[in-house]
Amino acid sequence: MPDFFDVVHTQRACRSFSDDDVPDELLAKVLDAATFAPSAENKQPWAFVVVRDPDTRGRIAELTRQVWEGGARQYEETHLDARILADVDQGTTGGFARAPVAVVVCGDAGSAFESTLPSSVFPATQNLLLAATALGLGSALTTLATAMRDELSTSLALPDTVKPMAVVFLGWPAKKLGPPKRVSYREKTHRDRYGESFWRS
Ligand SMILES: Cc1cc2nc3c(=O)[nH]c(=O)nc-3n(C[C@H](O)[C@H](O)[C@H](O)COP(=O)(O)O)c2cc1C
Repeated sequence: MPDFFDVVHTQRACRSFSDDDVPDELLAKVLDAATFAPSAENKQPWAFVVVRDPDTRGRIAELTRQVWEGGARQYEETHLDARILADVDQGTTGGFARAPVAVVVCGDAGSAFESTLPSSVFPATQNLLLAATALGLGSALTTLATAMRDELSTSLALPDTVKPMAVVFLGWPAKKLGPPKRVSYREKTHRDRYGESFWRS
């Protein structure tokens, strides 16, 4: 198992997958890690719909494509780094559809205040992504399909209180991903008050 800090430093979005399946035993490890996240009042208001069925997976990938091509791409053309734009194009036009598993991460408003759902559900999602990376799996946290919440909820038979918040595509990476591009923590940290660099040397 890789070192925790190696996992953190290599985790990134994977948008092209090989045809190889992901065994349930690995999914269990990934989902177990997800459920050890903190949550407001320890309500653990998450629900994971693990989609293997090809038709349902295809539907989710299709909703993702529709939202991207129906306006999100046009907006992102002027906002997103060209490299990421091209990769999302690749994911939405076939890459995501080839992932053997789509985990729809939901928040249950029946078991927690709705306003706390994102802050409780996304730590669990991050645990899931890190666990996937630790096991060598590729993963992509996506939210495009949630813009078509009704269609997504219908295809998964979600009760009204269960809100789809993200779709994580999971599988084996078709190619090796390079290192993530991130701004150094040094530029994001302040000493005692905003604007004073914490790091003096
Ligand atoms: C809240 C959130 C929503 C995201 N939604 C999408 C998405 O809908 N489609 C997608 O391809 N990537 C999505 N991403 C992945 C980001 O594009 C990715 O994390 C970011 O560009 C960093 O790229 P890297 O992982 O390659 O370093 C999302 C990430 C977050 C945190």
